[in-house]
Amino acid sequence: MTEDDSNRVWQVLEKMTDERNRIVSGKASDEDARVEASVRPSTFSDYIGQDRVKENLQIAVEAARARGEALDHVLLYGPPGLGKTTLAQILANEMGSSIKISSGPLLEKKGDLTAVLTSLDPGDFLFLDEIHRLQPALEEILYPAMEDFRVDLIIGQGPGARVHPYQLNRFTLIGATTRAGLIMAPLRSRFGIVHRLEFYSPEDLLRIVVRSAKIMGITMDEPGASEIARRSRGTPRVANRLLRRVRDYAEVRAQGHITLGVARDALAMLCVDEHGLDEVDRNLMLTIIEKYNGGPVGLNTIAASLSEEEDAIEEMYEPYLMQLGLLDRTQRGRVATALAYKHFGKEEPRRQPGLFS
Ligand SMILES: Nc1ncnc2c1ncn2[C@@H]1O[C@H](COP(=O)(O)OP(=O)(O)OP(=O)(O)O)[C@@H](O)[C@H]1O
Ligand SMILES: [Mg+2]
Repeated sequence: MTEDDSNRVWQVLEKMTDERNRIVSGKASDEDARVEASVRPSTFSDYIGQDRVKENLQIAVEAARARGEALDHVLLYGPPGLGKTTLAQILANEMGSSIKISSGPLLEKKGDLTAVLTSLDPGDFLFLDEIHRLQPALEEILYPAMEDFRVDLIIGQGPGARVHPYQLNRFTLIGATTRAGLIMAPLRSRFGIVHRLEFYSPEDLLRIVVRSAKIMGITMDEPGASEIARRSRGTPRVANRLLRRVRDYAEVRAQGHITLGVARDALAMLCVDEHGLDEVDRNLMLTIIEKYNGGPVGLNTIAASLSEEEDAIEEMYEPYLMQLGLLDRTQRGRVATALAYKHFGKEEPRRQPGLFS
């Protein structure tokens, strides 16, 4: 191994062990943000999967275009990395409109949002990411803006202050959130189009991996690509990230060509199991199984045991564990399923029937 090679292996190892760079997290890392632009689809025809959502949106776009009107406001929700930002950009692109991008936490003062809204040209798109984190006072500005394309400007201060209604250009708001439950009814009801993005099937992920590999000039065979797709926990961002890491490994160990064997070895080295679970997922499940007898156990207790944030557990880890059928959320807390016991090779305890069950 040359010094260069060992440096690269070292870099891969460093990435593996850094919590913030958790390899199977749906959340965007700095690296994702840098490289995603090159593989991000920009038209409906490049956007793979999510057929129901895509078809609905395509019809809405065609109808709006035929009427020469702005598209209705759209709310997209679902776990991180499933393609909400991508869809927002595609919608603007397909409508031939430009898009301004902001987010709930970025807009701090009322004036920040008013400035963005008044700067929109007719037909423009405004993408508000993490809309669930918009402050209530700013949400109130959004209501008349969405409904009547109006903002109330306040001129002057104190008792002499006057309210000036200001007419905005017709625009389309695209809201995105990973936490639909945190969006209050008054805001939600102002979106004409609301869609939830689902985890992708292995077949769709395979198409995404093959497409990205082509763009990135990576050579691979189908079994190698399928293996990456299968372990990407239903998430395109994870698929693209695993592809990059497996490519690193293939360049150092296999002349850059990704086969099934190369993919398996690389993913084993990255500690991603055959279902795409990593150390954090395993710890989470084993905590419930071993420390709390399979549950039910409260989210706050799990978070404390794992030294993880409750939000991160709820938003990033649990949705996929539930999708796999390993975890249940019940009224009384989180429960490991029979399948989880089987998956981790543990004996299921005989649960005492509850007092009232
Ligand atoms: N349907 C798709 N087809 C092909 N690639 C996709 C698709 N959806 C997403 N991707 C890829 O996954 C990456 C992440 O998608 P995107 O940034 O849109 O996710 P997101 O839902 O906005 O995530 P977050 O919740 O973190 O904001 C994109 O850069 C794109 O390359
Ligand atoms: Mg996004």
